[in-house]
Amino acid sequence: MPGAFPALTHGPVTTGAIAGHVDIVLNGSKKNPAMAAWKGQLSDLEIAAVITYERNALGNALGDMAQPRDIAIARK
Ligand code: HEM
Repeated sequence: MPGAFPALTHGPVTTGAIAGHVDIVLNGSKKNPAMAAWKGQLSDLEIAAVITYERNALGNALGDMAQPRDIAIARK
């Protein structure tokens, strides 16, 4: 939904460096509070799973994945 919710298909975050993708899901958006931080609600496994899904479904096919350990490290 342009201007409100950015497309996850071919989006800059969902097709960019995985560290940036982890950051917005863990910590939320710095410019739009509608995109909340999920670090308090979701486990490392859940965050890794949803990031891997976003990168490899919805028309994206990055062929990479986030591991729960990546999330644990990024939380620190
Ligand atoms: C676990 C659930 C969610 C995940 C994994 C997720 C993931 C993402 C990602 C990867 C982006 C970056 C997209 C880009 O800029 O290209 C994003 C942005 C955004 N999300 Fe979410 N999202 C979730 C839930 C939600 C919910 C529930 C809302 C609102 C009801 C929401 C609202 C937004 C908005 C407004 C942005 C744009 C932020 C900005 O412009 O900086 N998200 N989300």
